[in-house]
Amino acid sequence: MESFLDYDYHNTMLETSSESTAAELILNPNLSVRLELSTTAKNGTADTHRLGVAQHPELARFLVAAALQGELNQSLTALALPLFHQLLELKILIPRPNSASPVFFGSGPLLDFLPKHGSTTEPCAADELVLNETLCLQGTELPPLLAGRVSAGLPLSSESSAWAWVENPGSRILFPFALSKAQLEALEAIVSNRCPASSLDRDIREYFRGAGILVSKNYFLTKSERWAAAVKNGRAELLADGFVVLREVLTPLQIAALRSYCRDLRSEGYFELDREQVVNMRSYMQNEPFMSFIHQRLLGVIRDLTASDLIPSYSFLTTYDSGAVLERHIDRDQCAWNVSLFIDSQPEVSLADSWPIYFDVGGKVSGVRLAMGDAVLYRGTEVPHWRNALPAGQLATVLLGHYVPQSFEGALD
Ligand SMILES: [Fe+2]
Repeated sequence: MESFLDYDYHNTMLETSSESTAAELILNPNLSVRLELSTTAKNGTADTHRLGVAQHPELARFLVAAALQGELNQSLTALALPLFHQLLELKILIPRPNSASPVFFGSGPLLDFLPKHGSTTEPCAADELVLNETLCLQGTELPPLLAGRVSAGLPLSSESSAWAWVENPGSRILFPFALSKAQLEALEAIVSNRCPASSLDRDIREYFRGAGILVSKNYFLTKSERWAAAVKNGRAELLADGFVVLREVLTPLQIAALRSYCRDLRSEGYFELDREQVVNMRSYMQNEPFMSFIHQRLLGVIRDLTASDLIPSYSFLTTYDSGAVLERHIDRDQCAWNVSLFIDSQPEVSLADSWPIYFDVGGKVSGVRLAMGDAVLYRGTEVPHWRNALPAGQLATVLLGHYVPQSFEGALD
């Protein structure tokens, strides 16, 4: 039977034959072949390299064979020494323990990552708690109710028995909370009215409170009203100051989950070293799937605040090292509006000591300090912004979410 390749080949030959015969064909003398390779290794940073095959024939041969086979197919002792050193330098050969493990959101306990400063869940008597009406339980499959609202392919941990999705009625952040077997059973008992929230084990009840799975009766009204007021004031501030600070966009338990996730990604080596802007002093992941989901969920609030019909361009999760300086600059066109959402401070510092970002709006310079979970919105392409050196001994992780007008015609990354 004729194969697909044969079919294409014969047709191509037929088309070609009107102008030249096969014997007259030559290899295009301007052919240039380049290989792009990316590597990740535990406790390092992800790297991408491009190399010309003609300039590095031995290396190219090794890489193509390795990529096709997925394992070493030759003894390393047979390699020429220069090639061997090149493979080590490019992290193509690494010690087995340095091999990066996949990272999933929601694995591991969260208590160690809860911010010590900042907001706490508002007090509410256990017998007055009710189920959050936006609660949606996910087992192995995404429930139809979440279709279109949750991106496919989120890296959720398979260790949890289920996921509880809840939406903040103010910020409209939709967020998954991992449930253990005991937590799932407790929640199912409440959902089916088999037991009241007041009879829950204390730790489970506190987790449900922190996640917003159990809320006070006036939760929706309070949250919605507060956020509506924040948006109204925020619009005015944006007009007057050129930026606006948004407090508690993420709750402490959401921050705990993100801190844990981001640290795992970094320690497994998935962050790439910045070689362009904050050279060698920060690392980043562009369009990391879970962070892009948060970025997209923030769109509604950003549209409300800016009164503009915007779309997300790209997200940039970045960790600054001690001493990092973000020089004064304005951004490229993909960053018409920026949200800088503060995710993690290592070690945690109080709001008064957090690392400020500065804005120059018409000659007036303002410094903004954010607690974990706070964000600041500003016009990236118009307002010069910068950060002075991050104090010694500190790391700071920030999610930058960029937005552009719907009419934007450039690339979105
Ligand atoms: Fe910027």
